[in-house]
Amino acid sequence: MAVRQADVMVSDMASGTAETGRRLRVFSGMQPSGNVHLGNYLGAIRNWVVQQEQYDNLFCIVDLHALSVPTSPDTLRANIVNLANGMLASGINPAASILFVQSDVREHAELCWLLNSVTQFGELRRMTQFKDKSGGQETAEAVSAALFVYPVLQAADIILYDADLVPVGEDQKQHIELTRDIADRFNARYGKTFVPPQPDIKPQGARIMALDDPTKKMSKSATSPNSYIALADDADTIRRKIKRAVTDSGGEVRGAPDKPALTNLLTIYSLLSGEEIEVIEERYAGRGYGAFKQDLGEVVVQAISPIQQRRAELEADPSRTRAILADGAERAREQAQRKMTLVRERVGLGPGA
Ligand code: TYM
Repeated sequence: MAVRQADVMVSDMASGTAETGRRLRVFSGMQPSGNVHLGNYLGAIRNWVVQQEQYDNLFCIVDLHALSVPTSPDTLRANIVNLANGMLASGINPAASILFVQSDVREHAELCWLLNSVTQFGELRRMTQFKDKSGGQETAEAVSAALFVYPVLQAADIILYDADLVPVGEDQKQHIELTRDIADRFNARYGKTFVPPQPDIKPQGARIMALDDPTKKMSKSATSPNSYIALADDADTIRRKIKRAVTDSGGEVRGAPDKPALTNLLTIYSLLSGEEIEVIEERYAGRGYGAFKQDLGEVVVQAISPIQQRRAELEADPSRTRAILADGAERAREQAQRKMTLVRERVGLGPGA
């Protein structure tokens, strides 16, 4: 698959090093909540893969976050392994990146609790993701407290490792901004302890929209499977879903603010083929939506099928994935434990220096 390197460089940090000369550290996470989709891939995983040789990376399967909504133990366990295989199949290289499961490093939960004490109720209430996920006022009464403090655990994930950069989709921007505020507040109260991180959000692909409604983002929790392309979808399913994707009025293959559906489909085509949108528009000028959608189906199939092949190989040898996750947890734990010794001392826990 052709990936345009230039698209995924951080322009002001292109050298991959911080002011101090150390390599920049990247942290990002994904929930094991089933059905990893094209939005997760284009908005996050693909960027992690392309940049991984440039930075020191930690990629985390955030299973504690997934518990913020009801889930069964068997489903959660299966989703964790599936996500690990999906990330490895997409190109996460355990030699270049630490891949681990959040709950294997207890320090995430401990730091979350300590950060709760420097986070304001009003800040959490303003999080748009909480508002979206908790629904209206009535359902909000019944959602878990974990859903409410979800962004604090996310902040703990990131600052526990002194991450400089957090490559995510657009929907996570507010959470990373809150993370910076929490880190700054802790530092102001207890002395410089944490690095306030920066979001790394790409100009293209950071908000892939639902195929059946281009005003909504592509989402794992969507009720209709026609709204997303899962990385696990077979070739015929992918072709069918693209064919059924809604389009805009008119018949011109062109991206524009008044053509949200075509803009989304063109973005997907461009990112997966490595071709500029203008080149694609030119190719389909006067040919209508049918020809464009047919080819887009093939572009998506060609991008996803090698990932599926590698995933099948990984599934055939579960001990390999288990070993990668155990090794990742050990390496992450070492860093996390060192940091928490300092944090406990700073807040006044333990015997003190
Ligand atoms: P999650 O699992 O919902 O999403 C994982 C990543 O996929 C991106 N994403 C999208 N990008 C483009 N278009 C879309 N339609 C789309 N949908 C999802 C998300 O922005 C995200 O980057 N809170 C995080 C998980 C998390 C985390 C962290 C992330 C926990 N701790 C620490 C970064 C750092 C989340 O909801 O991921």
